[in-house]
Amino acid sequence: MACVPGLLQVESSLPQIAKERLRRLEERTAKIGVIGLGYVGLPLSILLSEAGFSVTGFDIDEKKVVDLEAGRSYIFRIPNTEIQHAQQLGFKATTEFSNLSEQDAVIMCVPTPLTEHREPDLSYVENTTRSVAPWIREGQLIVLESTTYPGTTEELMIPILEAENLLGLKVQGPGIAAEHGVFYVAFSPEREDPGNNTVARRDIPKVVGGHEEIATELAAVLYEGIFTRSVRVSSTRVAEMTKLLENIYRSVNIALVNELKLLSLRMGVDIWEVIDAAATKPFGFHPFYPGPGLGGHCIPIDPFYLSWKAKEYDFNTRFIELAGEVNESMPAHVVDYVAKGLNQQKKAVNGSRILMLGMAYKKDIDDLRESPSLKVIELLRDQGAEVLYNDPYFPTVGRGRRYNLNMTCTPLESLDQYDCTLIMTDHSDYDYEEIVTKSQLVVDSRNATKGIHSSKIVRC
Ligand SMILES: NC(=O)c1ccc[n+]([C@@H]2O[C@H](COP(=O)([O-])OP(=O)(O)OC[C@H]3O[C@@H](n4cnc5c(N)ncnc54)[C@H](O)[C@@H]3O)[C@@H](O)[C@H]2O)c1
Repeated sequence: MACVPGLLQVESSLPQIAKERLRRLEERTAKIGVIGLGYVGLPLSILLSEAGFSVTGFDIDEKKVVDLEAGRSYIFRIPNTEIQHAQQLGFKATTEFSNLSEQDAVIMCVPTPLTEHREPDLSYVENTTRSVAPWIREGQLIVLESTTYPGTTEELMIPILEAENLLGLKVQGPGIAAEHGVFYVAFSPEREDPGNNTVARRDIPKVVGGHEEIATELAAVLYEGIFTRSVRVSSTRVAEMTKLLENIYRSVNIALVNELKLLSLRMGVDIWEVIDAAATKPFGFHPFYPGPGLGGHCIPIDPFYLSWKAKEYDFNTRFIELAGEVNESMPAHVVDYVAKGLNQQKKAVNGSRILMLGMAYKKDIDDLRESPSLKVIELLRDQGAEVLYNDPYFPTVGRGRRYNLNMTCTPLESLDQYDCTLIMTDHSDYDYEEIVTKSQLVVDSRNATKGIHSSKIVRC
């Protein structure tokens, strides 16, 4: 059994309700509820099912539940067969939250976006917590996985769970372990990197921080059923901040190379060649790569959860703000280079036909949340361009939180009919040699045409 040394000593004195949960988690006979069956919650449910746990997924989106119950996946990289296999192992999906009371542990994986004013939108976490509260049972473990600022679990979730549960239960706090009348709460951030197949999912260590040490241990043992290693930290706040540090580190370093790219373009230096050379240093340097702007649910959003919270402490998170400013300017930079490329051919953006390659925010995935492609379409259309797109992962692009495009994927043929082919996402499926050969002009924001020599290419 994997226990922290401190807890091993107290394990014999654990209250019966915790011992019982711990045993079921170790033996994987525990029932686990996963709330929010999106990019995080669905793969997690499958992993837990494959590890032998009895898993029920909860979502308010009826369509997702109907699809899953019919053995259908709605996430590109998860084939139907994986859903069907999980079903054979007992996985069920439901919109009926009363089933939560049967679960030994409940894991919440709901969205944490920003509002229009770039402030944390915790409405999903709050609503989910309110849905969970009435069904809490004594000894249950509740884990939040959604990325958020330090203090969310303690300041937002716990008060609701305590006030709105029907049995008058309290969260187990630090200090003497109660024999009865308590439940346990922990935070454990998700670390998935969609499209990255270099590390097996189970080999990504899972950070867990409980409200006190019993919750930490229960959560750590739960995750050790599916991950090679749990990393126990001393509090929910440390676990919450860990995730933000990881994402801020990426945002700041991407901003750094984006800024250096802008300078390098003026100096006539190839920034990608520079990064590749620097990356040969065996210590003290980790390569980050420039691009057309940040995308995805994490990097463009999560840092602002911390900068918002920092204001409560009269603190300005200058690195976060500066990185945001640089990264957010990149789509406009790409549009400038489309204009430059067209200009070289004595054409204007106004009236041009542009085929954009890639809607997804990064290569080989089917996720367009916060994708810079969306912004670039808007900017090009504002300047009078006609924009079409091709992306093997998106047959259509309809409506999202901040866009309503109603576009259909254009076949990758007759490229010479477009004034410009704009590479926004470097999907592996594309044949870049052929694209360059057949296009009139290629604007490449990803260095996807590396090694191809042609006067038609404008790298930006
Ligand atoms: N996608 C990633 O790669 C990734 C990586 C690390 C962390 N995260 C974090 O994980 C969290 C979830 O992200 P995601 O990408 O899975 O989001 P998602 O939008 O793909 O899925 C969220 C799901 O929650 C459901 N939901 C919303 N409100 C609900 C409620 N009240 N009750 C039940 N279900 C509800 C939605 O219908 C949806 O199916 C976010 O905080 C995100 O920042 C995501």
